[in-house]
Amino acid sequence: MKPIRILAIESSCDETACAILENGRALLASTVASQMDIHARYGGVFPEVASRQHVLSIIPVVEQTLVQSNLTLKDIDALSVTRGPGLAGSLVVGMNMAKGLALGTGLPLIGVNHLEGHIYSSWIYNAGDIVPAEPKFPLMTLLVSGGHTELNLMTDHLTYQRLGSTLDDAAGEAFDKVARLLGLPFPGGPSIQNASANGVATRFKFPRARLDKPYDFSFSGLKTAVLYEVEALKRSNKPLPIEDLAASFQAAVVDVLFNKTIKATREFGAQEILVSGGVSANRALREAFQAQNEFKVHIPAFSLCTDNAAMIAAAGYRRYMAGDISTLDIDVQPTWPLS
Ligand code: KG4
Ligand code: ZN
Repeated sequence: MKPIRILAIESSCDETACAILENGRALLASTVASQMDIHARYGGVFPEVASRQHVLSIIPVVEQTLVQSNLTLKDIDALSVTRGPGLAGSLVVGMNMAKGLALGTGLPLIGVNHLEGHIYSSWIYNAGDIVPAEPKFPLMTLLVSGGHTELNLMTDHLTYQRLGSTLDDAAGEAFDKVARLLGLPFPGGPSIQNASANGVATRFKFPRARLDKPYDFSFSGLKTAVLYEVEALKRSNKPLPIEDLAASFQAAVVDVLFNKTIKATREFGAQEILVSGGVSANRALREAFQAQNEFKVHIPAFSLCTDNAAMIAAAGYRRYMAGDISTLDIDVQPTWPLS
């Protein structure tokens, strides 16, 4: 049977990306142009700089992906693009590129939810590799990124029941903010992870929020606890034990994410667990899930944890198969819950 190939574009935040995926799983080519170094100067993503950078990168990124795949647009069956959530000025660049390609080629266009993309990153493998087993429903999905932290029960493809989400900061945002207050560079996740490597995670007892709804999350109390500890240490004129602070903070985040996910998986009778989003690149979080053997856990390859277009192609493929095609007048959707 002829394979179905999706070309996808992602530009929701500070990564300009394009990828080509076959049958929703086999990755043929993927390009990610990161703006990280540019935004690091500002200590976070500067929206206007991000959108202008997307304008510069988008055409070279699409061209490079086609070259890498040895394909032309004639070999593509559909186009998918991140419609939201994300920064409006960034999203419109990818959206307009995708609309231009759709107009020029006549290919169907599929507007994809970025969060659905993160979830579908667990289905992807590199073309030519041994085909890994597909995640099995019902699935418990933990999505942890810079903008979102939520637990969803997935009973089937494209079917989500949200069990809880963050009441304040997203997990990635907490990493970024705590890194800043420890004087570590942006993005905070990798900085905290590196600083933690030589730290004592049990040195500081940071709080694990207790909430009315068991599957909601809250990280602002934890962030404030780190701030108070840092201020107290500074007042006593002691050098800041950055590594121990980072490790203790990271342990608190991992503890909460891991325990809530396992509890929800048991309670809702899910078969397997899926962890995705930028924070799923975190080594301590991956190790926590890998250390248990009650449930099979799917965590994407490192390159697919943070923003990329392969995941937008993977979600786009499922939408395409479900007949969920967009019209050419679709707008971006900066706020767009998954369920
Ligand atoms: O999924 P993503 O690339 O973008 C969004 O959709 O938000 O996630 C970015 C977030 C950032 O907050 C970054 O600090 C965090 O993921 N992150 C990590 C790690 N790598 C990236 N957090 C913890 N540990 C990491 N190794
Ligand atoms: Zn993302």
